[in-house]
Amino acid sequence: MKKEILALLKNQSGYVSGQDICNRLGVSRTAVWKNINALKSEGYQIDSVNNRGYKLLEEPDRIDEAGLRPYLNTKWLGKHIFYEPEMDSTNIQAKRLGENDAKQGTVVITEHQTAGRGRRGKNWVSPVGVNCYFSILLRPDVLVDRASMITLVSALALAKAIKKMTNLDTMIKWPNDVIAGGKKLCGILTESSTDLEYINYVVVGIGININQTDFPEEIRNVASSIRLETGVRVNRAELLAVFLNEFERYYEIFLETEDMSKLAEEYNLLLVNRGKEVKIVEQDKERVLTAVGIDDKGGLLVKDGKGNMETIISGEVSVRGLYGYV
Ligand code: BTN
Repeated sequence: MKKEILALLKNQSGYVSGQDICNRLGVSRTAVWKNINALKSEGYQIDSVNNRGYKLLEEPDRIDEAGLRPYLNTKWLGKHIFYEPEMDSTNIQAKRLGENDAKQGTVVITEHQTAGRGRRGKNWVSPVGVNCYFSILLRPDVLVDRASMITLVSALALAKAIKKMTNLDTMIKWPNDVIAGGKKLCGILTESSTDLEYINYVVVGIGININQTDFPEEIRNVASSIRLETGVRVNRAELLAVFLNEFERYYEIFLETEDMSKLAEEYNLLLVNRGKEVKIVEQDKERVLTAVGIDDKGGLLVKDGKGNMETIISGEVSVRGLYGYV
C-alpha cells in the first residue's frame, strides 16, 4: 500500500487529503497515516497540513542500490552493486572485490570515504550527502597498454551524462578532468592489476561534485560542483545511473576497436585546450605547445611553432593552461 500512496502523491502537484487517499485506495485513515510515516522514515519529505492533507516535497536522494535501480538501464553494468555508507576508498574496495572474483561491471558506491584518493597521491575529500564516490570493476580482454584509454572513455561518458541530465555543457581537460566554468567537477582515478601483458581487472574510480556548495579554501579556485554551475540541486542517484547507462554504451564502442578511434572525434569536441597553448610540465622542464586533440591511442597531440607534432602520453607529464588550471 505504501507504493500506491507514494504513486498517488507523486501524481499530485498540490495537497491530497487523507480522506481522498482512503477513498481511492479503500483503506483506513490509520493505515494512511502509518504508511506516510514509513515513507518519511525512508527519507521522503512529506508535508502534512491540517484540513489540506499531504504533499510530497522531495524524494530521498539515496545512492544505494534501491535509489539507483529505477533509473538504471544497462545490460551488464551495475547488475552487482556493493554499497556501504562509509568506506576507506571505493577504489580500494573495488580492488579487494577484483582480487576475489567479483563480476565485471560490479559498481562500488559509498556516501563517505575516509581515505579517498586522487591522482598523483593526493587525497580526495569526500563530504557526506552531497556528491558521488564510486568505482567500476572491469575485466577487459585487451592488452595492458589499452587500459589508460578507459579513463578517457569515462570522461566522455561523464560529460555526456551531465549534459543529458542537467543540460550543463562541460568540457574535458585531457586526459580526464571534467570541468565547467574553468573549474573541476569530476575526477577519475583508474587503477589496473596486470599479469605480464594481460589485464586481470581495471578499477575506474570517479568522484563527481554534485550538490556541494562550499569547498575548502585551498581548492576553491579550481573546484566546483554541478549545483554551483547550474544553480539547481541534482538527484544524485539519477545522475549516477545516467552516467552508468552512458558509460556502458561508450565502453562497448571502445571495445569494438580496443582504442579511441571511434570516440576521438566526440572527445575532441569537448577538449578544453583544443587549439590553445598549453604548458607541458615534465620532470625537469616546462614547454609551451599548442594542443591539437587526442589520437586513436588517447595520447594528446601537440605541435610547436614550426608545426612539428608530438604525442604526449598520459601519466608521464602534466598539462596545464598558461594562466592556471585550465
Ligand atoms: C583526481 O585526482 O582527479 C582523481 C580523483 C578520483 C576520486 C575518486 S572518488 C571515488 C574513487 N575512490 C577513490 O579513492 N578515488 C576515486
